[in-house]
Amino acid sequence: MSSQIHDTSHITYEGLLEGNKKFIEGALAEDPEYFDKLANGQKPPVLWIGCADSRVPANQITNTAPGEIFVHRNIANMVIHSDMNMLSVLDYAVNVLKVKHVIVTGHYGCGGVNAAMGNNQFGLIDNWLRHIKDVYRLHADELDAITDETERSNRLVELNVIENVNNLCKTSIVQNAWTNGQELSVHGWVYSLSTGAISDMKVSTSSNEKMDAVFKFK
Ligand code: CO
Repeated sequence: MSSQIHDTSHITYEGLLEGNKKFIEGALAEDPEYFDKLANGQKPPVLWIGCADSRVPANQITNTAPGEIFVHRNIANMVIHSDMNMLSVLDYAVNVLKVKHVIVTGHYGCGGVNAAMGNNQFGLIDNWLRHIKDVYRLHADELDAITDETERSNRLVELNVIENVNNLCKTSIVQNAWTNGQELSVHGWVYSLSTGAISDMKVSTSSNEKMDAVFKFK
């Protein structure tokens, strides 16, 4: 395996605007009505909650196009019930766009997860990473038993996705959609930076049947 990282030295501010022109040319060459159709509205069937990491762009890694995935990204793909930004995106996606799937996608080698596993201070972000430390605490027996640090990090990435899928299910937004008979499934995925492959954590659900009683709304 090469130890080089992707070269970004050619990326400039002006270059982004040049890139935009090429994007327009390419899109119109494929479909002269490309922008007309997108300007008329959106009907994405999926909400993606992913990591802000530059290497995990929702559309590219799922071979989808603009208009096809509604996206929310933050550090370490967290679903935190006091996060007004996430709740607003979720509410709009579920109640206005009527998405059929919400997918929490983490990725191995996540810097946020690795930072949360350690004891260094990083500043303001420590408060955000606290939520990942809470996931660690919930699964400390399993994680402490993994001696290899990379393997332990990989497992925490998976458990963090699973716990954030649980957090999604606990929101009144998702529970009300289910109570109202709306077609809505939530899923947890993990992306591998080293192979490009997505693994399904197999925690897909479309009801609150298995949820701890204390979190269930009538
Ligand atoms: Co990350």
